[in-house]
Amino acid sequence: MKRILFYILITYPICMATAQFEPNYDETKVPKFEASDLLTTFDGKKVNDTSGWENTRRPELYHFFEEQVYGKVPGKLDSLSFEVVEGSTEALGGKAIRKQIEVDMFKNGKSLSFHILLYLPNNGKASPIFLGYNFYGNHTITDDSNVIISNAWAMDNEDFGISDNTLTKASRGVRTHRWAIEKIIDGGFGLATIYYGEVDPDKNDFSDGLHRLFYEEGQTNPKADEWGSIAAWAFGMSRALDYLETDSDVDAHRVISFGHSRLGKAALWAGASDQRFAAVISNNSGCGGAALSKRKFGETVGRINARFPHWFSDTFTAYNDNEEALAIDQHGLLAQIAPRPLYVASAEDDQWADPRGEYLSAHYVTPVYQLYGKKGLARTKMPQTGSPVHHTVAYHIRTGKHDVTEYDWEQYISWAKKFVAKEE
Ligand code: GCU
Repeated sequence: MKRILFYILITYPICMATAQFEPNYDETKVPKFEASDLLTTFDGKKVNDTSGWENTRRPELYHFFEEQVYGKVPGKLDSLSFEVVEGSTEALGGKAIRKQIEVDMFKNGKSLSFHILLYLPNNGKASPIFLGYNFYGNHTITDDSNVIISNAWAMDNEDFGISDNTLTKASRGVRTHRWAIEKIIDGGFGLATIYYGEVDPDKNDFSDGLHRLFYEEGQTNPKADEWGSIAAWAFGMSRALDYLETDSDVDAHRVISFGHSRLGKAALWAGASDQRFAAVISNNSGCGGAALSKRKFGETVGRINARFPHWFSDTFTAYNDNEEALAIDQHGLLAQIAPRPLYVASAEDDQWADPRGEYLSAHYVTPVYQLYGKKGLARTKMPQTGSPVHHTVAYHIRTGKHDVTEYDWEQYISWAKKFVAKEE
């Protein structure tokens, strides 16, 4: 008896503590909250037109996310250079041009390089482009044996044959299913991708990657309101865009910032912080991406900061289990993309990313697009699974898990043809 009592006394508090920390997947337990009005400034002034949006509200939203969520970039590079290190006009059986570009970034006597893998339709035109990071190296997205294998740090992955944090040819082509290259090319688009680990290795260590270039003498970590990894990845996308602007085979006014999951968060922040991106696609970006934080559904601010302390600025930890204190939720991030085309996509089995929170967030930006006479997602009710809604703001939810599928790409391509590509 005594032993049972002892057991209960010991385990009860542990069970209670874990129960409290279980993610919520129950819609009835979502706290009541009102999503702040996008067309009213923090000090209560109504925004009625595009100039009020562009000169007042959008900048204040940008500064909020810069200071409270992703962190400030501490300055500019001293210089930047590009070199096409490999190329072919006979890629993908002759239908594509392939280029591999080394981008070198210089600051404070230090440097960092990353590589863009670029496929373009072999049609003699300047093509619109999807630009997005990959998780395990450029060589994983295609079976094309000419793709250079990165020597940057990589996360070990037994299934992909990656050990000792080193990429080898064992992982060539392991992620082809996530990149519908043929469909992209056949649709008249190019694809540019970068291994995100070359810009900032995805670990809680600020001694490597992009951050270190910006340190003052003796500094080892970004300051509390300075950038985490997501902002560094976003910065890298802008530097890739700097290159794309120099490439006459690319229509640099039509570069779409694309990303999945943590890289979808980065794609959104890149689109918000750099107005040169023509459009943004968020694929299953979830918490700290498209999803509303105040719903506390699936992944929460506290959880993401605990598990990935290097992704956001330290200031974001003030909202751990305190989401209600956010002056604006993630719809304030999506709104910064306006009036440019924006696509938010979810997956049914990806409840961790809160599909409903991703949809609502995209729905709330509608009034901002209306200022420009553009169509958003007027209905509060989510579209059915497999029934995409394609306006300037677009959304779909598909069956299946957290991933990028052929179906997702089919949607992105047909939507981008209508809303991003140049009409013939
Ligand atoms: C984790 C993390 C998510 C992130 C995802 C990913 O699940 O909690 O926030 O989006 O990894 O990047 O795959």
